[in-house]
Amino acid sequence: MPVAVDGEVPLSGGDVTEGVVRVGDTVRRPVGAHTAAVHGLLRFLERSGFDGVPRVLGVDGLGREVLGWVDGDVPHRPLPAYAVDESAVRGVAGLLRRYHDAVAAYRPPDDAVWDELDASNADGPPELVGHCDVTPENVVFRDGVPVALIDFDLARPTTRLYDVVTAARHWAPLADPADRDAVLYDVDAGRRLRLFCDAYGLGRDDRRGVLPLARARFERSYAAMRRRAERLGGGWARMWDGGAGERIRRAQDWLDLHWEDLDAHLV
Ligand SMILES: Nc1ncnc2c1ncn2[C@@H]1O[C@H](COP(=O)(O)OP(=O)(O)OP(=O)(O)O)[C@@H](O)[C@H]1O
Ligand SMILES: [Mg+2]
Repeated sequence: MPVAVDGEVPLSGGDVTEGVVRVGDTVRRPVGAHTAAVHGLLRFLERSGFDGVPRVLGVDGLGREVLGWVDGDVPHRPLPAYAVDESAVRGVAGLLRRYHDAVAAYRPPDDAVWDELDASNADGPPELVGHCDVTPENVVFRDGVPVALIDFDLARPTTRLYDVVTAARHWAPLADPADRDAVLYDVDAGRRLRLFCDAYGLGRDDRRGVLPLARARFERSYAAMRRRAERLGGGWARMWDGGAGERIRRAQDWLDLHWEDLDAHLV
C-alpha cells in the first residue's frame, strides 16, 4: 500500500482496492494484470467521444495508474436519497446503455488480460466489454444525474444482459430487504427493475432472461467471492468473513420467493 504523501487524499469507496488516492485533478490506483486492458478500453472510449468514463493519463513514478478526476458526487454508504430515487434508476440504466452503445464497436486485442475470476459461459458468447460492477460507489452523479462510470477493474467481455442484471442487483435492488441500505428497505424492486429495463431499452427476449440470469449469477457470485477470498485475501476475505456469502444466499431466497411478482413487472 503506498505511503500517504503530501497532497494525496485517500479515497475509499468499494471494499477492495486499497491505496486509491486523489492527487489534484487525478486519481492514483494500484495496477493489476488487467490494467493494460482497461486502459486500452478507456482510451478507445475517449477517442470515440464518450465522456462517461475517466481519462487515462498513464502510470506515475510509484507504478500506480493515473486517471482523470471526474467532477461530481459519488454516493457512499449509507446511501443518500438522490442516489436511489427513480430518476437515479433511470439515469443509471441510460448511462449503462450509452456506455454499451459506445463500447460495442471496441475490439480488444486478442491477448488482452481481464479480471475474469468470475467469468464462466453462463453469460453466453461475449457481445462487448461490460463494466460488470455498476454499484452506487462506482457511479458519478452531477446535480442528481448519473454522468460517469468509474472503477473498471472488473470489466471484461460479456453480454449486454449480464451487465444489466449485474447492475440491477444493486439498483432495483435484487436483495433481501434486511441486506439493503435503509433508503431501499421499502422500495418496490419489481417496479424499479422494470424502470431499469425500460430506460436501458432492453428487448423483449432479453427481459425473459433477466430473472434466470440473476439466479445463475447468484450461484456464480457465491462461488467466485469464496474463491477470491481464499486466493486473494485482503478486502475480499474481509467481505466474505463479514457475511457476503450469506447475503448472496438470502438474495437467492428472496428472488425465488418474489419471482412471479418480478416476472409480472418484466413481461
Ligand atoms: N476518476 C474518479 N473521479 C472521481 N472520483 C473517483 C474517481 N476514482 C475514484 N473515485 C472515488 O474514489 C472511490 C474509490 O475509487 P474506486 O471505485 O476506483 O476504488 P474502490 O472502490 O476502492 O475499488 P473496489 O470497487 O475494487 O473496491 C470511488 O467510490 C469514488 O468516490
Ligand atoms: Mg469502486
